[in-house]
Amino acid sequence: MGLTSAQLDIVDLTPTIGSEIRTDIDTLLSGGEAANIRETLEQRGVVFFRGLDISDEQQVAIAKTLGSLVQNEGEEGIYKISLDKNVNQRAEYLKGSLFWHFDGSLQPYPNLATLLRAVKLSETGGETEFCNTYAAYDDLPQSDKDLIAELRVVHSAERSQYYVTPEMSYDEISFWQKSPTKACPMVWTHQSGRKSLLLGATADYVIGLPVEESRALLARLRDWATQPQYVYRHGWEVGDLLIWDNTGTMHRALPYAVDSGRLMHRTILAGEEPLQ
Ligand code: OGA
Ligand code: MN
Repeated sequence: MGLTSAQLDIVDLTPTIGSEIRTDIDTLLSGGEAANIRETLEQRGVVFFRGLDISDEQQVAIAKTLGSLVQNEGEEGIYKISLDKNVNQRAEYLKGSLFWHFDGSLQPYPNLATLLRAVKLSETGGETEFCNTYAAYDDLPQSDKDLIAELRVVHSAERSQYYVTPEMSYDEISFWQKSPTKACPMVWTHQSGRKSLLLGATADYVIGLPVEESRALLARLRDWATQPQYVYRHGWEVGDLLIWDNTGTMHRALPYAVDSGRLMHRTILAGEEPLQ
C-alpha cells in the first residue's frame, strides 16, 4: 500500500494506523507538503520519518509549517522527555506516559499533535505504542455506541498518578487533587463529523454510573481500543521524527530503565478543537 504525491512517498504500516513518509528535509522545511502531511496524520493517526536526523531548530521549523506551537514548553519549542530526574524535573509525572493516555486531557483545547524525535535510545524497551481511537469507535457494536453516546467522563491528574504510585500518601493525594478536574464526553464528535473514543489514564469515572460499572466500562473500552488491530508500535531508531494526532489516538511508552539514557525531544502543536 502506498500513495505518492509530488514529494512524499507514503507507506501504510498497518490497515488502521501508522504510516512511514519518505521525503527529504528540505521538502519538510519548505512547508509545501504540510497540508498533505496533516491530512495523512488525521487519516493514519501516526506518521514518521525514519532517521531524518534533524536539529532542534529544524524540528521547530517543521512543526511551524504544520500548526501553531504551544509556548512555555521549555526552550524554543523543544521539551526533553526523559524519566531521569537529572534531565527533567518532572520525570516522576512523566512516568504516567507508560500507561495509555492522550496528552492535555485536562485542557480546554487538547494538543492537536506532537512531534517526537529520538535523540538517545534505551538498549531495551522504550518503544512507543499508539492506538487509533477513530477506528476503535467506528468498529464498536451499535449497542455500545448507543450506550456511550451521551456519557461524560471526569478526568483528573490524580487518577493518572495512581498508575505511577499506587499507594499515594495523603500529602501526595492532596497535591494532585489541587489540579482541576475536567468532564469530557466519552465520544468526541470532531468538527469534521468523525467520532473518536476519549479514554486514557486520566479518565477517573463516568458521571452517573455506579462506581463498579464505571470502572468496568472504562476498562472494557480501553481493552477494545487497544486491541492489536488498532495499534501501531514504533521501534525507534536514533534520528526518527514521529508525529501523532493527539485528538484521534492514545499512546504509551513501553517500560525502559530510568537510567537508560533514553531521550526524546518533543514539540507540541496547539489544539484547534475545543473539548467540552
Ligand atoms: C509524551 C509521551 C511517550 C514516549 O511525550 O507525551 O507520552 O515514548 N511520550 O516517550
Ligand atoms: Mn504522552
